[in-house]
Amino acid sequence: MKLNLIEEKIEVELEIILVKNKNITNDIEILEKLDFQGEADTTALLPELGKLYVGCGEPQSDNIRCAVAGAMRIFATTNFNEALIEASNDEFLREIVEGIELGSYEFKKYKSKKDDKKKTKKTINILVSKVEPNIIEIFEDAINLTNSVNMVRDFVNTTPEDFYPKIMAKKAKKIATQNNLELKIFGEKYFKEENMGAISAVGRASRHDSRLIHLTYKPENALKKIVLVGKGLTYDSGGLSLKPADFMVTMKADKSGGSAVLGIINAVSKMKLPIEIHAIVGAVENMIGGDAYKPDDVLVARNGKTIEVRNTDAEGRLVLADCLCYAQDEIKDFDYIIDYATLTGACVVGVGHYTTGIMGNNIELNNKLQECALRSGELATVLHFNKYLKKTIKSKIADICNISNTRYGGAITAGMFLDEFIKDENKQKWIHCDIAGPAYVEEVWGCNPHGASGAGVRFSVEFIKNLISE
Ligand code: BES
Ligand code: ZN
Ligand code: ZN
Repeated sequence: MKLNLIEEKIEVELEIILVKNKNITNDIEILEKLDFQGEADTTALLPELGKLYVGCGEPQSDNIRCAVAGAMRIFATTNFNEALIEASNDEFLREIVEGIELGSYEFKKYKSKKDDKKKTKKTINILVSKVEPNIIEIFEDAINLTNSVNMVRDFVNTTPEDFYPKIMAKKAKKIATQNNLELKIFGEKYFKEENMGAISAVGRASRHDSRLIHLTYKPENALKKIVLVGKGLTYDSGGLSLKPADFMVTMKADKSGGSAVLGIINAVSKMKLPIEIHAIVGAVENMIGGDAYKPDDVLVARNGKTIEVRNTDAEGRLVLADCLCYAQDEIKDFDYIIDYATLTGACVVGVGHYTTGIMGNNIELNNKLQECALRSGELATVLHFNKYLKKTIKSKIADICNISNTRYGGAITAGMFLDEFIKDENKQKWIHCDIAGPAYVEEVWGCNPHGASGAGVRFSVEFIKNLISE
C-alpha cells in the first residue's frame, strides 16, 4: 500500500467515509436501503458513487483503527486503485495509518498463483489539515511501527522448513545492518562453555543447530536501558512428550516471542527513540530422535540451578531460563527486563485467544504495561503469582521441576518457573508476557489477519515511548 498525506481534497476513485456514533449525513436513502446504520464492524460499498462507508461506533482509538482495517479488507477485494480517507481535525491520524497498514497485510508467500489483476500497488491519500512536521512525525512513527508488526507476522507465518534458528539469526543480521545495531550470535560451542545445559538440551534432536541472538540498539544519551528476551522455538513438536496431531499444527508460531523482540528493536531503532534496547532471542527447534532430551533428565542451567525434566513439551521455559541468565550476566545496570513467549496453552484457556497474560513480582509495573497495551490496541491482563502455586513446581530430585504437579494455573506456574532464574536484584524489574493466545489466531480479528498477529510489538513500543516522558 502506498500512503500519501494531502492537505486538499482531490478527486479519487473511492472515498472511505468513517461513520462515528452512527451519524450518517449523506446518501441517507441508499444506505437505508442497504440497511447500513453505521454500527461498528459494518461496511457499505457504493461502487457507482465511489464511496465506502465504514461504521466505527464510538470514536475511540481502537474502534477507528479496526474500522479502517475493515475498510482495507473490502478495498482489497475491489479493482479500485486509489482511495481517500479524511483525518478530520487531524484526529486519529495515527490510528488511521495503523488501521491501513495492519488491515491490508496479506501473507501470500506460499500461493502459487499471484493475483494478477490486483497486482498494481494501491494508493491511499490521507487528508490532514496541514502537512507539517508534527503530523509527519505521527505518520512516520505509525509506518515504522506497523512495518515492524508486519515483518514479525511474516517471520511467524513462514513455515518451519523455511525458518529455522540459522534463518532467524540471518533475519537479525539484516535488521542489524539496516539499523546500525550491534549483533552477537552464539551456538552450541558457547552453550557448552557457559554451562547453558537447558537451551542446549532442547535443541539437541533437531537437524538445525540452536542459536542465541543478541542485538543492541545504543543511542547516544539513552535515558533508559531495556532488555527484551524472546522464546524463538522455530518449531515445537513437543519433543519425546510428543504433541497430539491436532495440537502440533500452528506450532511454527512458537517463535512469536523471539520474532516480537526483533520487531520491537527494529521499530525503536527506526523511530530513533532515546532508549537503549537489548534484544535476546533463543532460537531453537524442539524435535524427537535418538539424541532427544528426555523426561527424567536433569539439566543444569547457566546459573547452576538443576531442573528435573518431566515433560519435554515444557521446553520454552528451559530455553528462556538460560537466555534470562545470559541477559542478567552480560548486560549491566538495566532498568527493565521483559520476556515474551508463547509459553502455555493454559494462558489461552484462561484468558482467551486475544489477550496477553502479564506476570511478574512488580504489580505496579505489570499494571502499567497492561495500560500501555490497551492504549496501543492490544489486549493484556495481569495474572498474579501466589505462594501456593509456587510450591507445585518443586522437585524431589532437583532444584526445580519443569512442570507443575497440578494442571490448574499453568500460565502462572510457568511464569513462576521463570522467576527462579531472575536474580534478587532484578525481581522488581522483570515482566513476563505469555502471548500464546494472541500471537497466532486462525481467524480475522480487529486489525489482525488469519495467522500471525505480531502480538507484543505495539504494546512494548508504547511502553518504551512512555519511558521518555517519565
Ligand atoms: N508452545 C507451547 C504452548 C502453546 C500452546 C503455545 C498453544 C501456543 C498455543 C508450549 O511449549 C507447551 O507445549 N506448553 C505446554 C506446557 C505443559 C507441558 C506444562 C502446554 O501448554 O501444554
Ligand atoms: Zn512445548
Ligand atoms: Zn513451545
